[in-house]
Amino acid sequence: MPGRPVADAVFAELEPRVAALRAAGHNPGLGTILVGSDSASAGYIRIKQERAAQLGFGGRHVQLADDAAQADVVAAIRDFNDDREIDAVLIQHPTPAHVDYEAALAELDPDKDADGQHPMNMGRLALGMEGPLPCTPAGIEALLAHYEIPVAGREVVILGRGFTLGRPLSMLLSLKRPTANAAVTVVHTGVADWPDYTRRAPIVIAAAGVPGILRPEHISPGAVVVGGGVRYEGRRLLPDVDERCEDVAGWITPRVGGVGPTTVAMLFRNTVAAAERARSG
Ligand SMILES: NC(=O)c1ccc[n+]([C@@H]2O[C@H](COP(=O)([O-])OP(=O)(O)OC[C@H]3O[C@@H](n4cnc5c(N)ncnc54)[C@H](OP(=O)(O)O)[C@@H]3O)[C@@H](O)[C@H]2O)c1
Repeated sequence: MPGRPVADAVFAELEPRVAALRAAGHNPGLGTILVGSDSASAGYIRIKQERAAQLGFGGRHVQLADDAAQADVVAAIRDFNDDREIDAVLIQHPTPAHVDYEAALAELDPDKDADGQHPMNMGRLALGMEGPLPCTPAGIEALLAHYEIPVAGREVVILGRGFTLGRPLSMLLSLKRPTANAAVTVVHTGVADWPDYTRRAPIVIAAAGVPGILRPEHISPGAVVVGGGVRYEGRRLLPDVDERCEDVAGWITPRVGGVGPTTVAMLFRNTVAAAERARSG
């Protein structure tokens, strides 16, 4: 299940919406903030900026130093909040340890939340209300739908309950809608026998950030396996899913180019939706 065709389909769906916005006199604008010089984060931001340029989006980037103060991050966010040309803002995560990412995110206008991670939007998701969805979970929902993997009524076991992936994904896939409606089980370090859960599940999503944690003996033959968790060692990408799972799974995301491209596509879907909301309200 490569992510690129899913992302391409999302961008094709966005094209006429962007054209309509431009015809009405507004080019969607994405603001990005990067604190520090972490190479993986800089790489992620570059991919998103390149895509924004390809799409002809407006926007600007704020690069802050490794030792930027919390107040500098907050000032950049407030500046974007007040900028009518900016529809959505991405604060690249993780930020350096001395920056309180959650506190900074809380300063962002929830309607300009490109990543869908603002507490207000996590609350909207929990309540099934309209709002920007967290990008990686939304990308996984779109990935499963694109490959016509039935999710409704089936068990999905998610390994990890973190706030960027496992937790919001569990809320999303249990929503009452055609591309979700699943029986979701979330396992974590508090569930010592988690392989018993993943082994019985038709769909397993790895969201732990522990390289190679999901091994062939943890899944059933023919299972659908989505690898969301990754860790970087320098520029080396270490996925949660042991590549030997390919021999057992029925459907599986590739080691590289699985969930990542869908995450990027969702960022732009959130940006376009934010532009539409701002112009309709
Ligand atoms: N592909 C993408 O585009 C993309 C985007 C965003 C995030 N991610 C990746 O997604 C992963 C998860 O991120 P996150 O922020 O949501 O989560 P996180 O805060 O890093 O939490 C990891 C989760 O995995 C569980 N876990 C860790 N080791 C485990 C073990 N040995 N056995 C069972 N459970 C274990 C933890 O359990 P406890 O809660 O009990 O500690 C926790 O719930 C990361 O690798 C991140 O890089 C990928």
